[in-house]
Amino acid sequence: MSLLPKDLNGCPYLQLAPMEGVGDVSFRKAIASVGGFNEAVKDFLRVPSNAHVKSLSKAYNATELDPIPLAAQIMGSDTELMAAMAIELVERGAKRIDVNCGCPSNTVTGRGAGSSLLKDPHVLHEVVKAVVKAVSIPVTIKIRAGYEDTSLFKENLLAAEESGVCYLTLHPRTKVDGYGPPARWELIAEAKSLLKIPIVGNGDILTVEDALKMLHQTGCDALMIGRGSVINPFIFHQIRAHFAGEKYQPKWEELLRYLSTYIESMASDLSIRLKMNKLKQLLSFLFKGNQKLLEHRQKILTYTEPDPEAFLNYAKELLRQDWQEG
Ligand SMILES: Cc1cc2nc3c(=O)[nH]c(=O)nc-3n(C[C@H](O)[C@H](O)[C@H](O)COP(=O)(O)O)c2cc1C
Repeated sequence: MSLLPKDLNGCPYLQLAPMEGVGDVSFRKAIASVGGFNEAVKDFLRVPSNAHVKSLSKAYNATELDPIPLAAQIMGSDTELMAAMAIELVERGAKRIDVNCGCPSNTVTGRGAGSSLLKDPHVLHEVVKAVVKAVSIPVTIKIRAGYEDTSLFKENLLAAEESGVCYLTLHPRTKVDGYGPPARWELIAEAKSLLKIPIVGNGDILTVEDALKMLHQTGCDALMIGRGSVINPFIFHQIRAHFAGEKYQPKWEELLRYLSTYIESMASDLSIRLKMNKLKQLLSFLFKGNQKLLEHRQKILTYTEPDPEAFLNYAKELLRQDWQEG
């Protein structure tokens, strides 16, 4: 059976992207309260060279979004430790392990993990193969188009496929690009024509039209959405509805549920300052959602009162004025 099944209307399998920081457990729970996606991927678990895998693996909770599955993602370059971490995560209930070969952060790449693996297809192959061999659940890879440039793009794709992964997710920017220039969707099409394994397309899907364009232009098998879902938490339902020949009309109550789940899921021991920062980040994404909301974004960013509940109520008032159902 396919790991990336379409729904009955032909809608591709939809995944929530891993997003360290902004896409933490409170965001995942909030967007899961809205739903519409098939699976989420937790942000990376770093496996440094001195890793104590048992304790590090506790940061992963397979049932966090029940009934929506949550895949575990690991990042490191030590083959033995990566294999040991994968085994530990299977014991903790993981149904899929994704290997991160894309994180551009210098603190990460400095230690030879994340996007640094893209510098040497042989190393990438060895690391991923070690994980594949260690567990009997599906192992996948999430990859950028290259490190400094795309000169090793094809070699990295082939190394990934040969390592035995079930499918590959491509965010078609290089490490050096960061999140700057537009994602190069033509590279997803190239990957699709080169490899036999399925390809999940990722990068710059902000609307239903973008999703359809990516499918059409690249022929990818499934879609992964990150920032577009923080700007518009209903994007998955809207894509799904399109395939059903319908239009998804998000209700005000759904937005309220999303926001209240977010605030309720924040760790209770978090300082007020951190709670405020997290809320500000979430809301500043949400206020990019349409032109009218965008006009209020500055008010969100410059809000100073240190009271998360009061801040949320203030944001709700702004949203209520300009929230467009549908
Ligand atoms: C704040 C942030 C954190 C991210 N953390 C991760 C991560 O932990 N693992 C990963 O594979 N990708 C991570 N990414 C990359 C996203 O999963 C995704 O590939 C990228 O944002 C492009 O997709 P988008 O345009 O739909 O956001 C992160 C992206 C952002 C913006």
